[in-house]
Amino acid sequence: MTANHLPKNLLLKNARIIDPVKMKEFEGDILIRNGNIEAVGVDLPEDGGETINVNGKIVTHGFCDIHAHFREPGREDKETLESGSKAALAGGFTTVCVMPNTDPPIDSPESIRFLVEKAENLPVNIHPMGAVTMGQKGEHLTEMASMIQEGAVAFSDDGVPVMNSGVMRRALEYAAPLGVPVINHAEDLTLKGEGQINEGDWSTELGLAGIPDVSESSMVSRDIQVAEFVKGRLHIPHISSRKSVELIRWAKEQGVNVTAEVTPHHLYFTDAHLVNYDTNLKVAPPIRSEKDRLALMTALKDGIIDCVATDHAPHTIEDKEAPFDWAPPGMIGLESAFGAVWKVMSGAGCELIEIVKGFTTKPRTIMGLASDLFQKGTPAELVIFDPDAEWVFQAKHIHSKSRNTPFIGERLKGKVLTVISKGMIFQF
Ligand code: DOR
Repeated sequence: MTANHLPKNLLLKNARIIDPVKMKEFEGDILIRNGNIEAVGVDLPEDGGETINVNGKIVTHGFCDIHAHFREPGREDKETLESGSKAALAGGFTTVCVMPNTDPPIDSPESIRFLVEKAENLPVNIHPMGAVTMGQKGEHLTEMASMIQEGAVAFSDDGVPVMNSGVMRRALEYAAPLGVPVINHAEDLTLKGEGQINEGDWSTELGLAGIPDVSESSMVSRDIQVAEFVKGRLHIPHISSRKSVELIRWAKEQGVNVTAEVTPHHLYFTDAHLVNYDTNLKVAPPIRSEKDRLALMTALKDGIIDCVATDHAPHTIEDKEAPFDWAPPGMIGLESAFGAVWKVMSGAGCELIEIVKGFTTKPRTIMGLASDLFQKGTPAELVIFDPDAEWVFQAKHIHSKSRNTPFIGERLKGKVLTVISKGMIFQF
């Protein structure tokens, strides 16, 4: 990766521009002046600055991940805001919303301020999410309004669910007038029990305790009904099952204010890949059956699932080398996200512009972030990628501090070449 400051004027020429707001794809140029978008159009003049011939590659908004674990504070051996930022850039992401399940959890206005200040000089835009409950214990709500004032963009106890329905109701009620979503990790722990992988043929075959799909869908159902009842704003993270998709479809038809995300790994892998007991495939919620995977793909294509989010979850080698039952769930995902999703979804006949929307405008809108990044005067947040490039994901592509990914050795489609973010230009 090379990193340089942007010149005063930079013209990106001969680009295939995807505008995910206007839903248009066209050949054109982009002029960046003093780090801000000056013009997006056709045959723009060079204007005395530097020019990069993009040679027909795609130029679009920088990707936005609304679900990443950067482990700061507490587990800086796994990831820091700084190393996470590098992983983000390598994946084409210029904006990342970080989950609060750190050690200690981000459950106070002061801890939100700590992250905002720490992230100020990093090369990507980092937005913290606050915990729903103090210490993520599921009992007492955090000071949501003050946390928003300090810069929180959403609330989540991700990693663990809000099991208590009454607490979930209050969380949705308090967050609604603040205009931010509550993101509940939908896994009923009493149904999950000691489960390790999806409950089905493969859990039986491998002798690992199963996690039934209803552990997710029953909680999705509860959250939808509570959100509908209190007119709350619900976002459902890392959807893994067909049953959850059907509930979200129903909820959207009823006009419930609900959005949902899917991870690259739930779109890419099935429980059959666990045949070698690779702990890198142990995630929460678990990777499920082919039937579930196909339902997730269709739902993303149809817009029932709004966007892609990585659930980038770094863990140490020691953690992941533990026996399967003891290894913590999670895999890193920022660097491989686009290549994995575009491979799978292009294979299913999905339009590139739809996938770009699921990596840009849609996640930003869910989080209430400005989403029309081509407007004149907007700080340039762009990604340049080759949608046709096929490449094998290798350890050298990882910029995270951790290495826990089953994507190593996988052939992906769509390669990030250049990222422009916060006045800098990064080349890969
Ligand atoms: O697999 C996961 N890992 N799922 C989560 O929800 C939490 C995450 C983590 O923090 O490691």
